[in-house]
Amino acid sequence: MAPAARLSCCLLALWVAGLVQVKDALGAQDPGPQPLELKEAFMLFQMQFNHSYASPAEHARRLHIFAHNLARAQRLQEEDLGTAEFGVTRFSDLTEEEFGQLHGHRRAARGVPSVGREVGSEEQGTLLPPTCDWRKAAGVISPIRDQRNCRCCWAMAAAGNIEALWAIRHRHSHSVQVSVQEMLDCGRCGDGCKGGFVWDAFITVLNNSGLASEKDYPFEGTVRAHRCLAKRYKKVAWIQDFLMLRDDEQTIAQYLATQGPITVTINQTLLQHYKKGVIRATPATCDPRTVDHSVLLVGFGRSTAEEEQQAERLRSPSRPRPRHSIPYWILKNSWGPDWGEEGYFRLHRGSNACGITKYPLSARVDRPVKKHPVSCPP
Ligand SMILES: *[C@@H]1O[C@H](CO)[C@@H](O)[C@H](O)[C@H]1NC(C)=O
Ligand SMILES: *[C@@H]1O[C@H](CO)[C@@H](O)[C@H](O)[C@H]1NC(C)=O
Ligand SMILES: *[C@@H]1O[C@H](CO)[C@@H](O)[C@H](O)[C@H]1NC(C)=O
Repeated sequence: MAPAARLSCCLLALWVAGLVQVKDALGAQDPGPQPLELKEAFMLFQMQFNHSYASPAEHARRLHIFAHNLARAQRLQEEDLGTAEFGVTRFSDLTEEEFGQLHGHRRAARGVPSVGREVGSEEQGTLLPPTCDWRKAAGVISPIRDQRNCRCCWAMAAAGNIEALWAIRHRHSHSVQVSVQEMLDCGRCGDGCKGGFVWDAFITVLNNSGLASEKDYPFEGTVRAHRCLAKRYKKVAWIQDFLMLRDDEQTIAQYLATQGPITVTINQTLLQHYKKGVIRATPATCDPRTVDHSVLLVGFGRSTAEEEQQAERLRSPSRPRPRHSIPYWILKNSWGPDWGEEGYFRLHRGSNACGITKYPLSARVDRPVKKHPVSCPP
């Protein structure tokens, strides 16, 4: 562990030292010889993430993309009004387009299924707690998943939602991990590892009358063509139906606090360079109208003074500093536990950051007539 930690510290120091030169190099049409710092930073990046390239030409191309990405991360860092830190990540040698193809949805929304936008009327008027973090409730949030090279964020987000609701319904005494592979192999709506939407996953679960466990029917990272094994295994969880919440952050917070984690779909563009902190995007840096990545919303809170002081040091002095603590959402990603804040990230709350209000969806695992009141962990 120690060498890895030292490596990333070196990388950061080098990165800061090399930035001015990176920007200079990119300013000119012909960048000429690459600055030594950039080459060293790239070498460290390759070591840290074990990336190698087939030919010198490919190496040169990736180095060029890496330089562009460092400059972009630097710009994002200067422009961000939250506390986010952007920099070298394992995606730093990919173009924006490649990154989108690696993880994003391929097809555009063909049309939202006919689920009504529910107001969540029974939750209205409930006092909203100042913070809510379902990770603190034992057994509710399953471990961070890793999509690897499969564009199945939609199925992983749906699985996280079902697992959380199932645990809450059983009063935290009975947690399950459900099979994402079953949703990929057996769904007719989603496109397996080529993309899909969260409702495709829910429709598959309804159609299959439940889901097998992750243990019995484990994730493989590819789709078995015409090999749905749903009938082979015992079901461990099932859903009643699913609903879409109103596109309003107050409603989403109410529902989250009183019912449990929900899935949202966002524009993922900034996550390519994200390391930690609260991202405060603008419509220019993260277009909220087009979304391509589904994740699980697990809580909300506000940034601490300490966190803001840290962010202050990275921010350009000409930027206005926030006067109050920054409200944020906590989101569970599916890119492994080494990404972001141990697999999670935070987005500004109250500005429809990256289109977070576009498709807030949740399954229902409870019969509406027998509702148990649930609340956030303390
Ligand atoms: C590094 O990547 C190579 C293939 O590119 C692989 O064979 C090797 O196992 C990887 N090493 C580690 C430590 O992940
Ligand atoms: C529902 O399941 C049946 C098989 O049990 C399958 O033939 C059908 O395509 C499925 N429909 C959807 C929408 O997934
Ligand atoms: C996300 O936002 C960026 C910046 O506005 C935009 O360039 C990009 O096309 C958006 N992503 C998608 C999938 O539309």
